[in-house]
Amino acid sequence: MDPRPVGVFDSGTGGLTVLHECLVTMPHEDFIYLGDLARLPYGPRPLDEIRRYAGEIAGYLEAQGVKLVVAACNAATSAALPELQERLEVPIVGVITPEAHAAVQTTRNRRIGLLATQATVTAGRYAELVHTLDAGVRLFPVACPRLVPLIESDEPFGAETVEAVREYAAPLKEARVDTVILGCTHYPLIRPILQRVFGRGVTLVFSAEETAREVTETLERKGFANDPGREGVYRFLTTGDPERFRTIGERFLQLPLGEVEHVAIAELEAAPA
Ligand code: DGL
Repeated sequence: MDPRPVGVFDSGTGGLTVLHECLVTMPHEDFIYLGDLARLPYGPRPLDEIRRYAGEIAGYLEAQGVKLVVAACNAATSAALPELQERLEVPIVGVITPEAHAAVQTTRNRRIGLLATQATVTAGRYAELVHTLDAGVRLFPVACPRLVPLIESDEPFGAETVEAVREYAAPLKEARVDTVILGCTHYPLIRPILQRVFGRGVTLVFSAEETAREVTETLERKGFANDPGREGVYRFLTTGDPERFRTIGERFLQLPLGEVEHVAIAELEAAPA
């Protein structure tokens, strides 16, 4: 039995969709979640900047004694995963490989769409992974800069969100994809809108579920799992305003977050590299 917590990080609260799936699958594990709300959003930022932020946070979590780090942010995983894997002593699981794998297994016509932030589309990691698994698959990426701000707004399910989803889905429908990778932590929050716009014939693949599966298997295979009979405890940390994190976070997780601790950016920068 390994009592160390699992570390999870994201640019803000979006990674709570990944944490949610982890809590469902591994209710006996302890988790530390860090949301970099002060520097949200990552999506429009250059990849080297995101890489630096992700490196600081992963180093900080490792210094807190976690047994595994989950990069619960598609932009951070796209920009930084190989570097993080080289630098960290503990295993690190990103959100992109499990999703790419699921999409390749799911597609029947080998035409896959990708909806994601600009950074994730620019990094091109989904295309690399999908083509490693099946070189004959065609991937159609669409950057969706309006979706994260709309999902975080006071009207996440409003007409503007529906209109934006329709706009971003149009080229994928045109390309006759039968599977769409939702390559951003925020998109599970508008799952019904996405499913209605794409219709039943298109399978939506979400990173949260696939990543939780990967984390469970990794802990079990490495002998890192905690006692299955216990109930896990959770800590929430943010670089931003803890009250704001709690308000948005409770909407994402649908769970009372309790005390949210503040971490200064300077503490992250001081973490061992
Ligand atoms: N967490 C980011 C992602 O999954 C979305 C929010 C942001 O742009 O920082 O790509």
